[in-house]
Amino acid sequence: MDLHYEDPDVDLLYNRIWGEDIHYGIYSGEDDRIEDATQRAKAVMAEPLPLSPDSVVLEVGCGYGATARFLAERFGCRVVATNISKAQLAHAARSTAGTPQAALITFEEADYHTLPYENNLFDCWWCQEALVHSPDKAQVLAEAYRVLKHGGHAVISDQIFRPDRLDPAERAAVRARYHTDSIAGPEDYAVMIRNAGFELLEHRDWQEHATIHRRKIRDRLAELIPELSGSIAPETLRRNYDSWSAWVTLAEEKKLGFDYYLAHKR
Ligand SMILES: C[S@@+](CC[C@H](N)C(=O)[O-])C[C@H]1O[C@@H](n2cnc3c(N)ncnc32)[C@H](O)[C@@H]1O
Repeated sequence: MDLHYEDPDVDLLYNRIWGEDIHYGIYSGEDDRIEDATQRAKAVMAEPLPLSPDSVVLEVGCGYGATARFLAERFGCRVVATNISKAQLAHAARSTAGTPQAALITFEEADYHTLPYENNLFDCWWCQEALVHSPDKAQVLAEAYRVLKHGGHAVISDQIFRPDRLDPAERAAVRARYHTDSIAGPEDYAVMIRNAGFELLEHRDWQEHATIHRRKIRDRLAELIPELSGSIAPETLRRNYDSWSAWVTLAEEKKLGFDYYLAHKR
């Protein structure tokens, strides 16, 4: 298990820099605010989904619960929002308590490789910027297929490296951060989605948004480092600033992208 998000300093850092949405945004231009772009990303991803108050969505890797709240608000659907990180689940529950969507959402601890749910249960399986963490993405997708009803949809967006363009030092940096030997590219994702049994309805390459988003995250951290130094260990700030700066360079060189997939279980 990647314990990155369990570190209280990392938790505080992510929440201060990324806010409640630990995912990329869709930008209409460089001047967009991160918060508006991340809201737009959720809306664009949700657009084709036939969800209603009768639907139940399983979200895996739910972060601070912002997408669960968005889906419940937009569709009136129920959302089972799951995560392996206890720290994030506790934060998500706090952020959701007292909101109009609270009654529609349950937060549950679950590893997306081995979901504690029966077959053919959910109308939608949603995974936003979380598959990147898996050392066995084919297994995660097999689980998605298993728990979805026939006619259900899988929605994925992810930060995806372009392994064929990475030099050895860049490969080593990605492997070190994500604790994995295999770095899957966008076509690998498409193949794994189909191999799990899905019909792949759509794949969009959102590279340009990855570049803008990565710059904005790095720049926000640079601005806030003096303020955060009082509450976050300097080593945590330095390590994250270094890796987030490296990801900017990779995105600018089109070695790191942002992709969206919509798939269907017939
Ligand atoms: C970059 S964050 C994205 C969070 C959220 N989807 C969002 O967009 O705000 C990655 C998420 O994946 C979760 N994650 C990592 N490994 C996981 C696993 N094995 N099972 C379930 N969730 C996992 C992390 O705890 C974290 O919540």
